[in-house]
Amino acid sequence: MIKIAPSILSADFTKLGKEIEEIRDGGADYIHFDVMDGVFVPNISIGIPVLSSVRKFTDMFLDVHLMIDKPVRYAEAFCKAGADLVMFHVEADSYQNISEAIDIVKANGKKVGLSVKPKTPAEVLYPFIDRLDMALVMTVEPGFGGQKFMHDQLPKIIELRREIDRRGIECELEVDGGVDPVTAKLVKDAGANVLVAGSAVFKSPDRAAQIAAIRNA
Ligand code: DX5
Ligand code: ZN
Repeated sequence: MIKIAPSILSADFTKLGKEIEEIRDGGADYIHFDVMDGVFVPNISIGIPVLSSVRKFTDMFLDVHLMIDKPVRYAEAFCKAGADLVMFHVEADSYQNISEAIDIVKANGKKVGLSVKPKTPAEVLYPFIDRLDMALVMTVEPGFGGQKFMHDQLPKIIELRREIDRRGIECELEVDGGVDPVTAKLVKDAGANVLVAGSAVFKSPDRAAQIAAIRNA
């Protein structure tokens, strides 16, 4: 089943509640929540207090994407603030610390994911993949919404789909960056089952129609 996860990075934060209701009513499956620290990526976005508010407002599944350095420091805090899934980057710390961050999220009863930036090969995820609920392929350099989809990431999605199926594990495969009704078709055909879309959904006047167009691409 294809799931659509609108990224609220492109929402209007002065009316975030309304924006969330619109995507919920428009058929979104997850809310994608982008956290940036100005160190791991060259931008700063939203964090723990906003996540706590969103958690109180909605029971939708909160897919929290940490683009932060050394996520082991904050893994528990994001669980406690209400994430349903905490995703961080394999590039953000040592093998040992990434492994520990995975354990912390699981010990808090939440789902856990690991992401790769465009220049990082899929194999870097393999030592962890049996413990993951989700793997994420970035199809833009993380840091900003509204960038152009990187077609050269499609082979990585295909490769990860093959590896997940070969191992027979329950690991969702998410794609993030530049997804719209045109590129959605490509990533679905490559084997992704969770599609993040920020600007394509929030810059559209009809969010429901756009979510449907991405789902049915
Ligand atoms: C980028 C973020 C994305 C971003 C996607 O670093 O991780 O989730 O919001 O935005 P679009 O869909 O506009 O590329
Ligand atoms: Zn994201």
